Amino acid sequence: MTETLRAAVLGAGRWAEAAHLPGFVRSPLVDLVAICDRDEDLARHRARQFNIPHVFTDYQELLSQLDLDVVDVCTRASPTDPDNHEELAFAILEAGAHCLCEKPVCHDYRNTWKAHELAQAKGLKTKVGLTFRYAPAMQYMYELIEEGAVGEPYIFNGYEQNSQFISPHEPVTKPDLIPPTGEEDQIHVSALEGYGAPIIDISLWCFRDELSRVVGTMQNFVPYRTAAAGQRVRTNIDDGDVYIGEYRSGGFCTIQNSYVAVGNYPGLIANIYGSRGALHCRLVEEFGECQTLHGAQPDAVEFVPLTIPGRFFPPGHQVGEPWPSLFYANLVHNFMQEIVAGGEENEGNFAQSARVQEIINAVERSVRESRWVDLPLA
Ligand SMILES: NC(=O)c1ccc[n+]([C@@H]2O[C@H](COP(=O)([O-])OP(=O)(O)OC[C@H]3O[C@@H](n4cnc5c(N)ncnc54)[C@H](O)[C@@H]3O)[C@@H](O)[C@H]2O)c1
Repeated sequence: MTETLRAAVLGAGRWAEAAHLPGFVRSPLVDLVAICDRDEDLARHRARQFNIPHVFTDYQELLSQLDLDVVDVCTRASPTDPDNHEELAFAILEAGAHCLCEKPVCHDYRNTWKAHELAQAKGLKTKVGLTFRYAPAMQYMYELIEEGAVGEPYIFNGYEQNSQFISPHEPVTKPDLIPPTGEEDQIHVSALEGYGAPIIDISLWCFRDELSRVVGTMQNFVPYRTAAAGQRVRTNIDDGDVYIGEYRSGGFCTIQNSYVAVGNYPGLIANIYGSRGALHCRLVEEFGECQTLHGAQPDAVEFVPLTIPGRFFPPGHQVGEPWPSLFYANLVHNFMQEIVAGGEENEGNFAQSARVQEIINAVERSVRESRWVDLPLA
């Protein structure tokens, strides 16, 4: 008989509705028992929508009252509680549950390592919302790299960009995009963390290596935006950034992120070039298709489309389903399989998130100090 895991989701907002909750509902390994949101009406609405028996508004009550195997953090940090994910993730691990957490787990990479160490000490598994490594096209690209399709990797170019925040007139619905009052003179890390994390993750994963140093730049292209209440506000955030990274064992990457580069969601592109071939994975929703993979070889240099095998698609997949639920169903099911299987397998966990966050922290330091920054950070 297959074991099922008792799961709860913290946060009942937009991303929970589009990605996390459909993923939990779809995995045959899950019994989704509770939802928690500070907004009780919203939590009750989602409970009805996804047939969830228990509703909470306080995550500490949820953790103390229920016996849970896995708890998911899908809340949103704000300028008033910027470490929201961090606090919740530590509480979940302390309560003895496996933890899935939206990115960033912590803004400071050192705290993400501490969370990883706590999980390890308690024999718990973790996973981070590094959504795009779970796209079927990306999973297939990784398998091809493992099989030697690119040979020795030389160069990785990664992008995560779309035009989500290009309009200065569109009300800002995400409070973390507005710098704290009094800090408007200094550019704040935004797209680098909000969009950068998944493509940085993929740049490390595909090369199976870490970086030895980085240099980058961040720019603010849309200096004023419209706040939710309608007033014009200074938004000195990085809405475009790029960095060069050098891998420890040779090769380099360039990673570019932007909220204001015209194009559709999710806007993630991963291109890898090596001694035996090249692969281009494109996750951009266009004309009904959200993922493509192309490959080329030194003696056949024109890129040709590659068919993604059915084994990379999640349970219950239907042609044309939206990318958030398609990619997240793979992520959630993969995590549940890792927990049920036991053993060491735990990809995209808090340790990987700490490596990603260390690069984000290093690129910020590179921009502030106008120089290359060595990794690991001292
Ligand atoms: N991985 C991805 O590709 C991806 C995509 C979109 C969003 N996200 C992330 O998902 C998270 C949620 O985003 P969203 O768009 O759903 O935000 P949202 O604002 O729509 O919803 C967040 C919800 O969390 C609730 N909340 C906040 N703190 C809470 C707490 N301590 N306890 C209980 N509830 C709490 C809020 O009341 C709100 O309803 C964010 O961290 C965002 O960055 C990730």
